[in-house]
Amino acid sequence: MNRVDYENVKMLLSEAQIQNKILELAEVLNKEYQNEEVCLIGILKGSIMFMTELAKRLRMPLTMEFVRLSSYGSNTNSSGKVDALNMSLLDLNDKNIIIAEDIIDSGYTAKFIVDYINNNYNPKSFKFCALLNKKARREVDIEADYYCFEVDNKFIVGYGLDYDGYYRNLPYIGYIEETGK
Ligand code: IMP
Ligand code: MG
Repeated sequence: MNRVDYENVKMLLSEAQIQNKILELAEVLNKEYQNEEVCLIGILKGSIMFMTELAKRLRMPLTMEFVRLSSYGSNTNSSGKVDALNMSLLDLNDKNIIIAEDIIDSGYTAKFIVDYINNNYNPKSFKFCALLNKKARREVDIEADYYCFEVDNKFIVGYGLDYDGYYRNLPYIGYIEETGK
């Protein structure tokens, strides 16, 4: 895989496709929560674009929080060990919580945060929203309540998702074509 070559990214989903799908999700959530207050929690860093696009379309009284989760491993594979920063600073009791995550891949990160919230807080309600679902790679039994797109088993970049820290700023979603170099 070339390290940083924005020219090598093959587009899978255009910015318009992504925005339309996030709008659809926002409409579902707007109906579901009506005038209930919601706390939207973004998992840094990958969820930034998804979270802000979703938040702009939500109409209920909304607060926003961010947590940093990192799963150790190589650039493209999770080790299954997850570390959380500032989760313990949040007060999520009696709140309607919506998690925004970029992608569910092996599922370790999603499972970690779902278990963490269920073990440490007593939210009023709790839903997990992912921009992307890479079901073929799942190693633990976890599903999003809502996701925008199912993706193939390729390494995805753009719209918040990175390879080695790069490509998050692409306004579309793509994958890096292997050149064999
Ligand atoms: P998990 O394997 O489901 O725990 O995913 C862990 C994290 O790895 C996700 O939150 C993403 O930040 C990142 N990740 C997983 N698959 C991809 C990918 O295809 N491209 C970029 N990041 C990914
Ligand atoms: Mg992530």
